[in-house]
Amino acid sequence: MKICLGVSGGIAAYKACEVARLLQETRPGQESNLVVQVVMTRAAQQFVRPLTFAALTNQKVITDLFREGAAEPNVESAIEHIAVAQSIDALVVAPATADVLAKFANGLADDFLSTLYLATTAPSVVAPAMNVNMWQHEATRRNIETLRARGVRIVEPGEGYLACGMTGPGRLAEPEAIVAAVWQVVERNRDLAGETVLLTAGPTREPIDPVRYLGNRSSGRMGYALAEAALHRGARVILVSGPVSLPAPAGAELIKVETAAQMRSAVLERLPEAAIVIKAAAVADFRPATAASQKIKRSGPVTLALEPTADILAEAAARKRADCVMIGFAAETENTLENARKKLAAKQLDAIVVNDVSQPGIGFDSDRNAVTIISHDSVEEIAEASKREVAERVLSFAINLRRRSHGRAAVSSAGERR
Ligand code: CTP
Repeated sequence: MKICLGVSGGIAAYKACEVARLLQETRPGQESNLVVQVVMTRAAQQFVRPLTFAALTNQKVITDLFREGAAEPNVESAIEHIAVAQSIDALVVAPATADVLAKFANGLADDFLSTLYLATTAPSVVAPAMNVNMWQHEATRRNIETLRARGVRIVEPGEGYLACGMTGPGRLAEPEAIVAAVWQVVERNRDLAGETVLLTAGPTREPIDPVRYLGNRSSGRMGYALAEAALHRGARVILVSGPVSLPAPAGAELIKVETAAQMRSAVLERLPEAAIVIKAAAVADFRPATAASQKIKRSGPVTLALEPTADILAEAAARKRADCVMIGFAAETENTLENARKKLAAKQLDAIVVNDVSQPGIGFDSDRNAVTIISHDSVEEIAEASKREVAERVLSFAINLRRRSHGRAAVSSAGERR
């Protein structure tokens, strides 16, 4: 296993030495063949010498995209970031300065560390450290939110006396907390390896005539965030999506549909492959009983006769593989938990993720959400967070359910053998 430790220029760079050391301590229950590759920005080298990290990690420290002192840019060095990017299991940056956060958030790539961040698909952990005002500045807050929404794990700075003489938040988190976060993302990064996750996202459109349809306000962001998070965790992802204006998540098998009937066919066809199904789509409950073949003219009142669509989730739950975990979403505007529990039972789901869509600023058409996940024997509340964070928590919940049902299956088959 290889972890890349990025060190950027702040007084807290000295604490990165302890992070490098702690990373190399054997994790409980894990083999110890760990390589820590340190990458230092130019500014970091003003605070700590590369030799310190080289001695601590027994590895040559990477000090810049184009090695200093070289008359000509070194070709080997210029492509080294790609090799490092492909070989690492996680990137952790401690300390991360305001400048590094801004570069990462905006995709700038003007030194080895920022180029590496763009070039790697490994999970990233960022531990910021800076002056209180810099940390609280709107620009930094936005950069942090952007990174969080992208799935970067932020290890929040602590409060206390800072080297600049001020007191408040901005002090680098403790090395133990940073290293713990690294192991968490590494484990997460593998917990869906080899599993197929079937997801639905977005609204459906039920045609009224050739130009009009019945739709809803779903943007598809929750389902797409789930797809991205599942891909990051090593899953094979089948994403059945209604019409949305989001880019296809790289690596997912995207099946585009329009109507509830098309979504139903796609889901039922791919269902046997899935170990986890999460239905985040806002499926139309009704469709026009007949779609007019020509555009309906504006001549007096029109009455639309509607008929119910098939409940895809309930049908899929009844037909799924025994070992498959089936999770639905419930959009509610009142009696949120009570209605969700009814849906959990009626649709025979393993869990349901409920959100109160009447709350302003979250849910429909927003990047943020606040939900409660309900299973038959547990409840997990997720306070307002980015949809990416919510997606990670929903996936962890699904994985736990799957592990528990595997455990039960193993116990009962042992019982049968006896
Ligand atoms: N769902 C589905 N097929 C439908 C309607 C809903 O698969 N025809 C799924 C949604 O994808 C979601 C869950 O069922 O995962 C709950 O959707 P929701 O609209 O909250 O519930 P409904 O069953 O439609 O009930 P109601 O609208 O009456 O609250």
